[in-house]
Amino acid sequence: MKPIKIIVTAFGPYAGTQVVDFNELGGHSLFLVHGPTGAGKTTVLDAICFALYGETTSTGRDGKNMRSHHCSLGEETKVVFEFALGDGVYKVERWPEQERPRQRGQGTRVQPAAAALYQKGVSCQDEEWAVLASGVNAVNEKVESLLGFTAAEFRQVVVLPQGEFRKLLTASSRERQDILETLFHIDEYSRIEEALRESAAEAKKQVEKLSQQRGLILQAAEAQDAQELEARRHRHEMELKEVAEALGKAAEEVKRRQLVLNEAQKVEEKIKEKEEAETAWIQLESQRPQMEAAKRELEQARRAAALVDLEEAVLSRRKEAARLKQAVENSDRELKTAREKKQSADQALKSRLEQEPEREELRQKLGWLRDLLEKIELLQNARQAENQAFAVLKKAEVRLDKIQKKVADIETRREEVMKARLAALEVAAEAGTREKQYRDWEENLQRRQRLEELRQELSSVQESYQTAELALSQAQEGLNRARGRYKEVQDSWVRAQAVVLANQLVPGRPCPVCGSVEHPAPAQAAGEFQGEDALRAAEREWQRAETGFQRALKEFNSSSAQKNTAENRVRDLEAELGNVAKTDIQRLQARVVEARRLWQEALKASRDAGSLASELRELERQAGQAKEEASRIEKAVKDAQAKWETARAVREEREAGVPPELREKPVIEAEIRSVQTRLKSLNDALENARKDAEEAGRDAARAEAMLQGLTNELERTDTRLREEETRFYSRLQENGFPDLHSYHHARKALEEIAEMEQAVSQFERALHTAKERYERARRAAEGLPPPDLPALAAELEIARNRWEQLETKKIELENGIRADQKWLKALLKVDEKLEKAEAEYGVLGRLADVASGKNSLGLSFRRFVLGALLDDVALAASERLKVMSRGRYQLRRTVERTRARGAAGLDLVIFDAYTGLERSAATLSGGESFLAALSLALGLADVVESYAGGIRLDTIFVDEGFGSLDPETLDLAMDALIDLQLSGRLVGIISHVPELKERIPARLEIRPTEKGSTARFVVG
Ligand SMILES: Nc1ncnc2c1ncn2[C@@H]1O[C@H](COP(=O)(O)OP(=O)(O)OP(=O)(O)O)[C@@H](O)[C@H]1O
Ligand SMILES: [Mg+2]
Repeated sequence: MKPIKIIVTAFGPYAGTQVVDFNELGGHSLFLVHGPTGAGKTTVLDAICFALYGETTSTGRDGKNMRSHHCSLGEETKVVFEFALGDGVYKVERWPEQERPRQRGQGTRVQPAAAALYQKGVSCQDEEWAVLASGVNAVNEKVESLLGFTAAEFRQVVVLPQGEFRKLLTASSRERQDILETLFHIDEYSRIEEALRESAAEAKKQVEKLSQQRGLILQAAEAQDAQELEARRHRHEMELKEVAEALGKAAEEVKRRQLVLNEAQKVEEKIKEKEEAETAWIQLESQRPQMEAAKRELEQARRAAALVDLEEAVLSRRKEAARLKQAVENSDRELKTAREKKQSADQALKSRLEQEPEREELRQKLGWLRDLLEKIELLQNARQAENQAFAVLKKAEVRLDKIQKKVADIETRREEVMKARLAALEVAAEAGTREKQYRDWEENLQRRQRLEELRQELSSVQESYQTAELALSQAQEGLNRARGRYKEVQDSWVRAQAVVLANQLVPGRPCPVCGSVEHPAPAQAAGEFQGEDALRAAEREWQRAETGFQRALKEFNSSSAQKNTAENRVRDLEAELGNVAKTDIQRLQARVVEARRLWQEALKASRDAGSLASELRELERQAGQAKEEASRIEKAVKDAQAKWETARAVREEREAGVPPELREKPVIEAEIRSVQTRLKSLNDALENARKDAEEAGRDAARAEAMLQGLTNELERTDTRLREEETRFYSRLQENGFPDLHSYHHARKALEEIAEMEQAVSQFERALHTAKERYERARRAAEGLPPPDLPALAAELEIARNRWEQLETKKIELENGIRADQKWLKALLKVDEKLEKAEAEYGVLGRLADVASGKNSLGLSFRRFVLGALLDDVALAASERLKVMSRGRYQLRRTVERTRARGAAGLDLVIFDAYTGLERSAATLSGGESFLAALSLALGLADVVESYAGGIRLDTIFVDEGFGSLDPETLDLAMDALIDLQLSGRLVGIISHVPELKERIPARLEIRPTEKGSTARFVVG
C-alpha cells in the first residue's frame, strides 16, 4: 500500500478541509512529519488508519471522537484516502458517526457512520471510479482482504504508533505466529499439514474399511478363515462325485420301469377297444326295425311323387276355371254399368241440344253489338271533330280579345301622350322667364357672399383696432412709469451732488455753490444715493418708452382708419342689398338651386314636346294597323263558329242512333266479351255432351264383346278340367292309393325323401363299420390277460423319487462349491489390498503426527516454517540493529519453549555482545527497544519483500521514538533509514526533534493555530 492523497475535513485539529498530496514529495521516499507537540502529526496517521479501518492508531481515539471541535455544526467530518496497491488505485471515503443539523426545523440528529470504497479505471474509462463496496462493514471487509491485514496487524507492521512500537518485539509466540502467517501467506504449509492429516485419516479409513470387508466375507461364507473354507470345498467335491454315480443308476431304473408300464397300458387299451366296439355294434343292431319302417314309408313317398305332376295340373286347371268364372261375373257387372252410363250421357246430350234457341239469340246479340261498336267509333270521331272546332273557335275568340285590348291600349296611350305634349308645350313656353329669374338669384347670391366677406374683414379690422388701442394705452403707461423713474433718479443724483459738495466744504472757505464761508447745515447723506450711471440708465429707459409709445400711436391710427373704411363699405353694400342683406346665405343658395332647376325643367319640357309629337305619330300608325288586324280576326271567329255548329249537329245525329247506356266503347266491348263467353260455354257443353254420349256407346259395345269372349273360354276350361280329373283318379288307383287321402298321407316333399334316403343308407353303412370294428378288436384282444396298472405305476413313482432326491443333492453340492470358490477369490483380493493399505498408513500416519507437532520439540510443520522465516527476519533485523547499537545487540530466535504450555518456536530474544548472553527483549531500555523495534520492522519488510507470495510492505510510518535517542544514536538510526530509502520504500517519520529537520529535506510541516492546524509539504 502506497498513499497517494489524504483529504480530511473537520477531523481532529484540522478544522476545514486539509489535503495532503504525497505526489508533492517528488522523488523523495523518506519524509518527516514535523511540527510542535499537539500540532496534529499523529492525526495524519490516524486519518489514514481511520479511512481504511474505521479505527485510529491508538485505542480510545475512535472516529466519533475525531470530529474536530474547531468547526461549526454545519461542517461534515469526512476522510478521503487514495492509495495504490499493486497495479490498482483505490479510494476510501469514510464518515464517522456525528451530529448534524436537521435538514428541516431546529435541532440536530445523529448521522450514522458510513463508508465507500472505489477503484480507479476498472472499466475502460481510466479516470472513472468504480464502486467496490459501500457500507461500513462491506468496506472494512473489502479493505482487509485487499491489504491482507486486520487493523491491529496494520498498526504493528505499517504504522508503528507512538508509544506502542514495542508490541511486535515483545509479542508472544502465538501473536507473532498470527502476524507472520498473515504477512507470509503460508497457507500452503498449513495445507501440506492439513493434507498429510487428511491423507493419514484416509489411509486409516481404508484399512478399516478393508478389514471390515474381510469380516463380512467370512461371515457370509460362515467360516472362521480361508483354510476352513478351502477344506469345506474339497469335502463337497468328493461327495459330488459319489452322488453323480448314484444318479446315473437311478435314471436307468426309471427308464426301465417306464417301458414296462407303457406295454401294460397298450394291452389295457386293446381290451377296452373290444368292449367299446361291441357295445356300439349292439346298439346299432337294436335300431334295425325302425329302419325297416322308414324304408317302407320311403317307398310309398316315391310312388306318390310320381303323381304329383298330374295332381298339380288338375289343381291349376281348377284355379283357372275359378278365375274365369270370377272374370265373367265382373264383366257382366261392367256391362251393366256401361249401359247405365250410356243412358245418362244420351239424356245429357238431349238436354244440351234443347238449348239451341238460347245460343241463336246470343249469336244475334253478338252481331248487333259488333255493329254498335262501329257506330260508336263514328260517334267518337264526330265528338272529336266537334271538340276540335270548338277549340279553334275559342282560340280565335282569345286572339280577337287580345287585339281589341291592344287597340284600346294604343288609344289610351295616345290620349296620354297628347295631354303630356300639351303640358310640355306650356312649360316650355316659360323657359325665358325662368332663365331670367335664375340669373337674378345668382347675382343676389354673389353680392350677398361679397357682403359676408366684407363683414368678416370688418370684424378682423375691429380686432386689430382693439389690440392697437390696448397697446397704445399700455405704451402710455410705460412712458409715464419711465418718466417718473427718471425723475426719482434725477432727484437722488442731485441730492448726492449736494452731499459731495457738502463734504468738500471747509469751514471758513466759501461754498462752490453758495460761496458761504459758513456752513451751518451742510447736506447729509441719507440712505443710498444714485450715481451718474443710474441716471443715464433711467434716461435711456425713458427714451425707449417714448419710442415704444410713438410706435403704438402710429399703429393705432392706421388701424382706426382701416376700421372706418371697412365700416363704410359694409354699410354701402347693405343699403344696396336691402332685404337680401338680412337673408341667410344658405337660403339664397337654395333659391338659386331651385330657380336653376325650374329653368332646366322648362328646357327639358321643350325637348320632351318634340319627342312626344313623334311618339304620337307612331301611336296613330299602330292604332290603324291593330284595327285592321281586329277586323280580320273577327271574320275568323265567325267562320269557326259556323264550323263548330256543323260538327255539333253531326255529333247529335250520331248520338241519337246509340242507346245512351251503350255510348261508351269499353262498355260495349265488355258486353261483347260476356256474350262471347256465355256462347262459348254453351257450345263447349254441347260438344262435351256429344263426345260423352259417343264414348259411353263405345264402352257399352266393348263390355258386351268382352263378356261374350270370357263366357266361351270358361266353357272350354270346364271341359278340360273334367277330363284331367278322370285321368288323375284312375292313376291313383293304379299306384295303390285307394283314395285321395291315402295319397296325400304318403306324399312327401322331395327334400324330405332325399333326407330319408340318406338316413337309411347312412344307417346301413354305420352298421357295417361297427360290425367290422368289433371283429378287428375281438381278434386283437384274443388271449390277452388284463394287466395291474396301479402296481406298475407305483413302482415307477418310487424309482423316480429316488432319482429326484439324488439330483437335488447334486445341485446343492455344486452351488455350495461355486459359492465357496467365490468367497475364496474375494478373500484373496481383499487380503492383497489390506496389506497395501496397512503399509501406506504406516508411513502417512507417522508423517501426519510429526507435522502436527507430535514431536520432541512440540513444533508443528507450519510453525517450523514460520520459525525458519523468523530466523531470516531476525538475521535481517540484526544487521541493522548491530549497526544502530554500535555492534552491541542482535536479535535471535529461541527454539526452547519460553512458556511451559505455550506454543514454542517463535520467541525472540536479544543477544548482548557485551555479556555474550541472550536475554528477553523486555529488558531493553526505552531508546534501545525503539531501535530494536525499528530494526525488526525493517527486517520484516525486507524478508517479506523477498519472499514470493507474501504481502508487499512498501510503506512504513514511525511515530515518535526518535526523541528518546541521543544525538549519536540518532545519527546511526538516520543512516539506516536513509539507506532504506534506496529500496524505494516510502518511509514517513513523525517527530519534533529538530536535528531530524536538518537531516531530512522532504517534510510535511504542520502548524497549530488557535483555529486549528494546517499541513503542507516542504521539499528542499
Ligand atoms: N476532536 C478534536 N477537536 C479538536 N482538537 C482535537 C481533537 N482531538 C484531538 N485534538 C487535539 O489535536 C491536537 C493534535 O493531536 P496529535 O496527536 O495529532 O498531536 P501530535 O502532533 O502528534 O503531538 P505530539 O508531538 O505531542 O505527539 C492535540 O492538541 C489534540 O489535543
Ligand atoms: Mg503524536
